[in-house]
Amino acid sequence: MLSEKHIGFIGAGNMAEALIRGLVKPSGVVPQAQIAASDTSNNRLTLIGDTYNIRTYQENKAVIESSEVIILAVKPQVIHAVLQEIAASVDETKLVISIAAGVKIERIQQILPTARVVRTMPNIAALVHAAMTAISAGARATQEDMETASDIFNAVGESVIVEEKLMDAVTGLSGSGPSYIFHIINALADAGVKVGFSREIALKLARQTVFGSAKMAIETNEHPMKLRDMVTSPGGTSITGVYMLERDGVTAALINAVEAATRRSQELGG
Ligand SMILES: NC(=O)c1ccc[n+]([C@@H]2O[C@H](COP(=O)([O-])OP(=O)(O)OC[C@H]3O[C@@H](n4cnc5c(N)ncnc54)[C@H](OP(=O)(O)O)[C@@H]3O)[C@@H](O)[C@H]2O)c1
Repeated sequence: MLSEKHIGFIGAGNMAEALIRGLVKPSGVVPQAQIAASDTSNNRLTLIGDTYNIRTYQENKAVIESSEVIILAVKPQVIHAVLQEIAASVDETKLVISIAAGVKIERIQQILPTARVVRTMPNIAALVHAAMTAISAGARATQEDMETASDIFNAVGESVIVEEKLMDAVTGLSGSGPSYIFHIINALADAGVKVGFSREIALKLARQTVFGSAKMAIETNEHPMKLRDMVTSPGGTSITGVYMLERDGVTAALINAVEAATRRSQELGG
C-alpha cells in the first residue's frame, strides 16, 4: 500500500514538487511525515519543507536512509554523480524510481546493482496534475514495485506501463507532446486574430476548445473519429475546415513530428 511507504526525493525541483503536491494533496495519498526530500539548494529545501510540511535534508544519504522508495528527480547531467554518491547506501531493500529523461535502467543498475529499479517518463503537465507518465520495469523490479510506481504517478495524472525500448517513442509522443499542443493552440489563436478577434479573445477561444475537446475524448472514451462525426454536419463548416487540415497535411505533419522527436531522443540517449 502506497500510504504506508516512506518516499524520498533526491532533487527537489519542479518535477519533484509536482509529485510531492500530488502525494500530499487534501485527499492525502501519503502522510507528510513519510515524505522526505534533499537538494543542493537550501532555499529550495526551505520552500518545499514549509509549503508541504515534509522532511528536508541537505544530504542525499539522509533521504536514502529514511526511505524505502527513492525518486531520482535530478537533471540527467548530474545523475551519474548522484548515483555514485548514494551507491553505498542503496541495497535490494530500496525501490529506485528514476524520472531522468534518457537515462537507461542499465546505466542506473550498473552503479546500483542490487536495487530494484523503475524508469519513468512523465510530462510537464504534472505541474497541473494532468501528466501522462510511462513506466518501465528494471529486471529486479517486482509487480508490487510497478504498482507502487503507478500509484505515485497516478497522483499527478495518468500512467501506462511500457517496455523500456519504447521510452524514446514515449518521449516523442507524450513527453514532447505538450510542446506540439502549445504550438497548435498558438496557431489556432493566430487564425482567430486573422478572422477578426483580439489576441486575448482568440487565445481564450483556442485553449478552451483544445481543453474541452481533450476532456470530451477522455470522459466519453469514444474513438475521436466518432466524436468528429458528431460535429461534422453534411456540407457544414466543420467538414470544410477538416478538409483543409487534411489537404494541408496535418496528419502527416504530426506523424513526422513524433517520429523525428523519437529519433532525436534515440540520438541524445546514445
Ligand atoms: N520538467 C519536465 O517536464 C520533465 C519531464 C520529464 C522528465 N523530467 C526529468 O525530471 C528530472 C528533474 O527535472 P526538473 O524539471 O524537476 O529539474 P529541476 O527543477 O532543475 O530540479 C532538479 C533539482 O535537483 C537539484 N540538484 C542538482 N544537483 C543535485 C544533487 N547532486 N543532489 C540533489 N539535488 C540536486 C537542483 O538544484 P540546482 O537547481 O541548485 O542545481 C534542482 O533543484 C530531470 O531528470 C528531467 O529529465 C522532467
